Amino acid sequence: MRRPLVAGNWKMNGNSESIRVLLAGLENTLAEICQSVDVAVCPPHVYLDQVGRSLQDSEMILGAQDVSRHVEDGAYTGECSANMLKDIGCSMVIVGHSERRHGLGETNDWVAEKVVAARKAGLTPILCVGELLEERETGRMQSVIEGQLQAVIDLGMENFEGTVIAYEPVWAIGTGKTASPEQAQEVHAMIRAYLAGFSQGIAQDIRILYGGSVKPDNAGTLFAMQDIDGGLIGGASLSADDFTAICQAACQDG
Ligand code: 13P
Repeated sequence: MRRPLVAGNWKMNGNSESIRVLLAGLENTLAEICQSVDVAVCPPHVYLDQVGRSLQDSEMILGAQDVSRHVEDGAYTGECSANMLKDIGCSMVIVGHSERRHGLGETNDWVAEKVVAARKAGLTPILCVGELLEERETGRMQSVIEGQLQAVIDLGMENFEGTVIAYEPVWAIGTGKTASPEQAQEVHAMIRAYLAGFSQGIAQDIRILYGGSVKPDNAGTLFAMQDIDGGLIGGASLSADDFTAICQAACQDG
């Protein structure tokens, strides 16, 4: 039995006051849901400390949105290491989000190094994979996603132990166009089957989240699919009511 996980990726949104208000809204409503669903929030780096302090008496998990692939401290201006994230109270970190792969040129190899760096510091990576619309339409979806997974496998299959995968079709992110539950399930099953070729146990245990325009009105049908173990939520995670409703949907599924 895989425990559902719903993670809010706040991206580059908010300020200390709006975050205070959002957290106050979540803390009131999420306590019970957290009994059966893991719930994480991933604020921008500069607010991690504020959010971490605010979550001290809560079951909610603190996650970051990115991490340096460099493990040791050093001359990497603007970077933040996995050890630093751990030190400030993070337990999870998103790696390889498509906005970094496609907007900032992160390669599969770099992303794989970030997975290793995160695990080394004791953080749970949320590895994002997914295809562009053009890749889907030209029949390359499977090879693109397998390439993203393979880069991590090349550094050791054990890197998937305890790691979380988020399938985020790039064409569904922030567009209001969500993959249908059947489309998402097909890819989730494909990811699990690919990993099973290397380790049955890891493939069975790994949590695979869906991300891309998840809202309260579609979360339930997505989470009900066999291989969908929760969601990585962008826009809707900025509203306490919407995020709570999505977490509730994961709870009912479980
Ligand atoms: P939206 O939910 O806004 O489409 O964003 C999804 C996402 O990118 C989560 O990482």
